[in-house]
Amino acid sequence: MDSEPTLHTSSATLANMAQQNARFAPSTRRPRSASITRSTAQYRTLATNYDATTPRIEFLRTQAHQLLSLRPGDTVLDVGCGTGKSLPALSRAVGPTGRVIAIEPCAEMMRFARARVRELSLSNVDLIEAPAAALCEAIETDSIDAVLMMFTHDVLQSSAALDHLLAVAKNGARFVLAGGKLFSGALSLLNPWVEWRQKPYCTTFENYDAPWRKLFDTQALSATCVHPRYMGIAYIAHAVRAK
Ligand SMILES: C[S@@+](CC[C@H](N)C(=O)[O-])C[C@H]1O[C@@H](n2cnc3c(N)ncnc32)[C@H](O)[C@@H]1O
Repeated sequence: MDSEPTLHTSSATLANMAQQNARFAPSTRRPRSASITRSTAQYRTLATNYDATTPRIEFLRTQAHQLLSLRPGDTVLDVGCGTGKSLPALSRAVGPTGRVIAIEPCAEMMRFARARVRELSLSNVDLIEAPAAALCEAIETDSIDAVLMMFTHDVLQSSAALDHLLAVAKNGARFVLAGGKLFSGALSLLNPWVEWRQKPYCTTFENYDAPWRKLFDTQALSATCVHPRYMGIAYIAHAVRAK
């Protein structure tokens, strides 16, 4: 008669575990496509606390800026600039003869970027409130020397956005991408948790095992290179536009 209570207890435990797993489980097996409408809504709620809640990405930001190899007079594009955290460093690196163009579709995130530009008098920074897939309407083709994509997974999964980025980049333009990704190997057991943690920041998990894949598969870049970071839960990648 002891077995019945034990059985009940273990069913309850199993149900509890299933509930916990469901909490971390990805919402769909087949990744949804990136959605600018959902992304803008998500970042509307994240904007106020974005800088305070993302200190861990600063180490990657410094590395990404170095990999851009900016020179005075360069024009650099900050894609999905968010609250503009990269703008002061980019502005300094290209100097008064250079230009920083920052594109961001979420008005609330852009409000913080605008305030930063104003407060720090970053006179060589131009802000464009639009998605990356509108770049060609806003700037000339073949006009960009370097492209920064810092934690912009949705943009990397949008073929339309990538077409525009590749069109505005000059031959030889440096592309630097940094962001989160899924673990591989034994640590991939933790991937449901990774997706759960990252859900507020992206609207698709397409290619989240290799976020650079869609861009690099276009064959429009040369010297492609990927460095895993933080035990493989993040990466920095770089490449050169070849036209
Ligand atoms: C995780 S935040 C990163 C912000 C900034 N790059 C940084 O390093 O702090 C991602 C940003 O990408 C923007 N974004 C999402 N979809 C986009 C699109 N299609 N085109 C341009 N930016 C986009 C979001 O609005 C958000 O501000």
